[in-house]
Amino acid sequence: MHVQTISINPVDRLLSKGLQNLWYPVCPSDFVQDKPVSLRRFGYKIALWRDAAGQVHALEDHCPHRGAPLSQGVILGDRLACPYHGVEVRCDGTVTKVPGSPGCKLEGARAALDFHVHEAHGAIFLFNSDTHVDAPPAFRMPEELTSPEYSNFLCYAEWRTDYRYAIDNVMDPMHGTFLHKQSHSMADGDSKATFQVRETDLGFVFEKAGQRGVNFDWTEWGETDMHWMRLEIPYPKTGGPGGNFAIIACVTPISPELCAVFFWRCRRVQGWMRDTWRFLYRNRLEARHWTVLEQDRVMMEQMELDANERENLYQHDIGLVRLRRRLRRLAEEQLEGSGAA
Ligand code: FES
Ligand SMILES: [Fe+2]
Repeated sequence: MHVQTISINPVDRLLSKGLQNLWYPVCPSDFVQDKPVSLRRFGYKIALWRDAAGQVHALEDHCPHRGAPLSQGVILGDRLACPYHGVEVRCDGTVTKVPGSPGCKLEGARAALDFHVHEAHGAIFLFNSDTHVDAPPAFRMPEELTSPEYSNFLCYAEWRTDYRYAIDNVMDPMHGTFLHKQSHSMADGDSKATFQVRETDLGFVFEKAGQRGVNFDWTEWGETDMHWMRLEIPYPKTGGPGGNFAIIACVTPISPELCAVFFWRCRRVQGWMRDTWRFLYRNRLEARHWTVLEQDRVMMEQMELDANERENLYQHDIGLVRLRRRLRRLAEEQLEGSGAA
């Protein structure tokens, strides 16, 4: 029998699951209601639940006794009781009770992996770390989400592809002119362009040289203890009052072939203009945006998972090349830091 040995480089292995020590959005807020839920994200199966005060907690969905899913258990405030033998685990990973064998060594041990949770902007965010962290850094999101001058809608989807293709897609503004050329907002502008990279304090901007405010003309990559992308698309007059339409995007790995995409659709609008925009968005614009996003999804899902091993890149791809290099560098640093490289 022919046995094929596949050796996966540690950097690739880390990147395929997602970089550690970063915040990631994992789901919209309404995924977690009155029962625990189980989600796979960045290489873990995670149990999430709300306590009586509405606060969300997260533990690896693996009971420290024998690995049963804690998410099938019962909520006891900041603890979950495992359905299999009743072991109780607190949100910081500590086993608080072993009802079948009181006083055993497992009681009091910090035996489960816990994740820090932050809920904001209509989503639940987790800090991805493979060990307990006492105090994670506080992440910052771009002003389109944090400033009261803006209003936003979160759009969530799961795409059957490696999360890195979904990132590449956002770092590739030029596809707007072609893939989305029929859309209401991306029909204008030159179909040829030269791109440039501009450094920022938080990352870099990949932009068309000489065209701005016409089409999907630039994407920004940002690192603020969370990785996000920002872009703007000018609205036609039919898009209602307000300035450009901005998108803040995050992509979270679920498995090697599945990812969660978060697109916050934002507009700088206040007062009656905000109400008008929100009304228009719900009634007319949202369906159009979904059509565009579906074009992206179909394209991503139809690409072979190893498509990036046979590419012939050109000038429009320097943004994603730069980002891939950056992510590899961060992965190498993480492995060096953990002594695994
Ligand atoms: S496996 Fe959870 S209590 Fe036994
Ligand atoms: Fe797109």
